[in-house]
Amino acid sequence: MISLRLPFSIAALLVPLAAYAENKETPDWVDVSAIFNARCVMCHSKVAGASKGLRLDDYSAALSGGERGVVLLPGDAAGSELVLRLRGESTPRMPFLSRPLPEHQIALIESWINAGMPNSGGVLKQ
Ligand code: HEC
Repeated sequence: MISLRLPFSIAALLVPLAAYAENKETPDWVDVSAIFNARCVMCHSKVAGASKGLRLDDYSAALSGGERGVVLLPGDAAGSELVLRLRGESTPRMPFLSRPLPEHQIALIESWINAGMPNSGGVLKQ
């Protein structure tokens, strides 16, 4: 009986820990859109007329990009035009005519892109 009980208790301990780590470390659309709402949607939304056709007020609209094509490449933050704009490696730097985002917000957006741009729809992650 002991040999059966031990692996079970280890598994019971590890599963919630793994879920906790996942929740803490993988940003979700909910986290990213909070930044977009504060700093970008005044120019990049349906209501604002969307600069260069790029909308950042909606998940699927953000993924489909603007007049010049996609700006978010799942799994490739370094190659995503949106990140290049945030870092000023592509100009004009975004947010347009405003102070750059703080490093921790840019890093959050990058890890969201590298994680494949998850969108839990506001529900708890698996
Ligand atoms: C004050 C208005 C304004 C704000 C705020 C703003 N943008 Fe822009 N954005 C523009 C304009 C205007 C352009 C077109 C500039 C150009 O010719 O590339 C643009 C272009 C872009 C592009 C390139 C689109 C393409 O298809 O090439 C990206 C990506 C972008 N913005 C992301 C952002 C992000 C992310 C934020 C918030 C952190 C943001 N913008 C905030 C006005 C704004």
